[in-house]
Amino acid sequence: MVVPDSQDEMYYPPIELQRDAHVPDFNTYLELYKKSIENPDAFWKEVADEFFWKKPATGPMLQHNFDVTKGNVFIKCMEGAKTNVCYNVLDRHVKRGNLGEKVAYYWEGNCPDQHTEITYSQLLCQVCKCANVLKKLGVKKGDRVSIYLPMIPELVYTMLACARIGAVHSVVFAGFSAESLCERIVDAQSCVLVTADGVYRGEKLINLKQIVDEALEKCKERGCSSVAKCLVVKHPALRTKSGASCNKLQTPWDGACDVWWDEAMRGSPEQCEPEWMDSEDPLFILYTSGSTGKPKGVLHTVAGYLLYTYLTFKYVFDHRHGDVFWCTADIGWITGHSYITYGPLANGATSVLFEGIPTYPHVGRLWEIVQKHKVTKFYTAPTAIRLLMKYGREPLQKYDLSSLQVLGSVGEPINPEAWLWYHSVVGQGRCPVVDTFWQTETGGHVLTPLPAATPLKPGSATFPFFGVEPTILNEHGEELEGEAEGYLVFRRPWPGIMRTVYKNHERFENTYFKKFPGFYVTGDGCRRDKDGYYWITGRIDDMLNVSGHLLSTSEVEGALTEHPGVAEAAVVGRPHAVKGECLHCFVSLKGSTDFNYSLVQELKTLVREKIGPIATPDFIQNAPALPKTRSGKIMRRVLRQIARNDRDLGDLSTLADPKVVELLFNQRNEAAA
Ligand code: WT7
Repeated sequence: MVVPDSQDEMYYPPIELQRDAHVPDFNTYLELYKKSIENPDAFWKEVADEFFWKKPATGPMLQHNFDVTKGNVFIKCMEGAKTNVCYNVLDRHVKRGNLGEKVAYYWEGNCPDQHTEITYSQLLCQVCKCANVLKKLGVKKGDRVSIYLPMIPELVYTMLACARIGAVHSVVFAGFSAESLCERIVDAQSCVLVTADGVYRGEKLINLKQIVDEALEKCKERGCSSVAKCLVVKHPALRTKSGASCNKLQTPWDGACDVWWDEAMRGSPEQCEPEWMDSEDPLFILYTSGSTGKPKGVLHTVAGYLLYTYLTFKYVFDHRHGDVFWCTADIGWITGHSYITYGPLANGATSVLFEGIPTYPHVGRLWEIVQKHKVTKFYTAPTAIRLLMKYGREPLQKYDLSSLQVLGSVGEPINPEAWLWYHSVVGQGRCPVVDTFWQTETGGHVLTPLPAATPLKPGSATFPFFGVEPTILNEHGEELEGEAEGYLVFRRPWPGIMRTVYKNHERFENTYFKKFPGFYVTGDGCRRDKDGYYWITGRIDDMLNVSGHLLSTSEVEGALTEHPGVAEAAVVGRPHAVKGECLHCFVSLKGSTDFNYSLVQELKTLVREKIGPIATPDFIQNAPALPKTRSGKIMRRVLRQIARNDRDLGDLSTLADPKVVELLFNQRNEAAA
């Protein structure tokens, strides 16, 4: 790692302004990094000292085996220690740090007239009450609780209540379909489901409870009746000032199972002794798309996740008292778990919790909120930046954005055009852009700049975070030095890395450790430039990244082939100006089926219902045949090129029938958008 010095290259030196930052310059970064790699035990012990441990660790800070050929893969952090994450992110601040009156969240609803603020002591009180409610509903240590809630404070209360009593939360993004929710409940065997009656997204009212009931019905059809109780929040936008329901939607109700949140919380005790957990007990499960179709339950554990989200938040956003942090992600994704719930709270930070969308009621909504709360650190996705770029500078010029100090990006590679707009228009040239590369599996940032220390190159996630040791391998698993391109892998664990795929350790080993024994394989391609900067080049497995969300091609293909008229389907990614990538689907139809508008609509609806609106195909193309190798394998590379209209096809000698390619190119323009 060297500071780039060549004049011909576009790079941004660290911004002077932040000389009192935690990591004030590049040399300090290098020293700390060296320490974290040469003496990880000492490095992480110092971090652990910030927290409360009911019992100290008996083992080292980190232990692991990454080599499948030498036995089971495992990662352990602070073996023998006992603690509680909820205690550490709330009680510790309120009781010991005098932060009780500090605002934990400014909540901003879908409509600007809906907002509230929650202090740390109020948060602790609500969390304890909720913890007692869950206990009363029968939840015990180790039980799973599914959470299907919009971005309202109750979502945070429920997550932390689970952490407090040692239950394992499984948050399901409230934009997912009944089918996706069902699949996740069945896998987790959750005993309680927490949801809301409904939610507005922009002007659209969504009946969440109805989706939940549909999901529970499907669970039963599959022989799963684990969910004994369904706790239902009355959404603030769906009640009158006095709290009564305003009847905007019909909430289906089953008296034996359903419980209103308000009624259960009323009179629930405000004290709840935390459950003291082992360092490696599970904290939560979060499902992420897998390349075989079925989502994987990524499991994170207590001590390591706490330390890692704490430290990445502190350094990557250079957190200081007085900051107002805003991550625009939904808590249904890992970004929200780590940088709305756990990381900020572990630091005693003040955050914005935003329920709405960037374009409602107007396209300046985000900037209006930045001005209102004097947001200092702002974290969003390239897809949101590209969307807002379309409206030009005018919506920003109406607001005072001078409070902003650090801008973050996450979810996919940020294209230099979007980076420059973010830097110059949103940040007015004053704010470093931290392009954070990480995954649901990594728990927190793994490649990232530090705002006051790292010279930036637009589009590069720059260097590894402390304790992280990346390397690049070629197809044969050989390590590549210097300037190189290949598979991005990690040689050793950091505290926040996932521990297993829930109830399927074999899948964990197969997915991440089998291809290159001894390394954690990210699934991303990566280039290292002459200065040692890392540049993510995109997924190298059968995964798509639509608006920063991973989708598996086979999951979408599975949904398409459920249609009685579809014989075979193949899905590939195709560049999209706002979403980054979008779905181009090739469908081979059964003899009697016609390719027409109504079929296309049916297929789109099917995918939405099976997976959720984010998976809606942009293009569906009729494919009388698919390009296959002689052994019958679909050549996705060729399909990707057809979708992009790229005729530079290279070697097609393994194709069984090369004529298919020309046919598909010719029909490409008829692909229904
Ligand atoms: C995949 C992980 C991490 C939270 C959001 C997504 C891509 C993520 C970047 C970035 C280039 C990125 C990778 C990764 N990705 N951040 N800064 N630059 N690519 O979590 O759903 O687990 O997806 O998102 O392809 O593997 P996820």
